[in-house]
Amino acid sequence: MGSRLLCCVALCLLGAGPLHSGVSQTPKYLLAQAGKKQSFKCEQNLGHDTMYWYKQDSKQSLKMMFTYNNKLMIANETVPSRFSPESPDNAHLNLHVKSLEPEDSALYLCASSRDTALQSHQLPVHKPARQPGS
Ligand SMILES: *[C@@H]1O[C@H](CO)[C@@H](O)[C@H](O)[C@H]1NC(C)=O
Repeated sequence: MGSRLLCCVALCLLGAGPLHSGVSQTPKYLLAQAGKKQSFKCEQNLGHDTMYWYKQDSKQSLKMMFTYNNKLMIANETVPSRFSPESPDNAHLNLHVKSLEPEDSALYLCASSRDTALQSHQLPVHKPARQPGS
């Protein structure tokens, strides 16, 4: 019956293409058995200091997992301890999973930015926002 599906964890990673274009994630797509160990790599060559892992599950909600700045973890949005990120340098943020769970089936997205302050506070100031529908 559906039990074979339950034993598998589908992990999808979207990259922006080859590394010359910025951020790259490997592997791109993975169907793994629950209980298995897995690692994802993310690399950027944009000279950014801050890197992120996001998770998008089947409910389509995009959730922040980890934020690293200068090799240090600055945010952990209560990700289960089986996930351990590793940042050997500013250009890499790898994600290791000790033992995959069925609920880990998701799309995983890696991103980078120059600075965390830009991410959270800077809004475009050139154009005033127009009210939609008015
Ligand atoms: C992230 O936070 C959760 C909840 O506090 C904790 O169990 C987990 O070990 C933390 N992960 C890392 C990599 O620190």
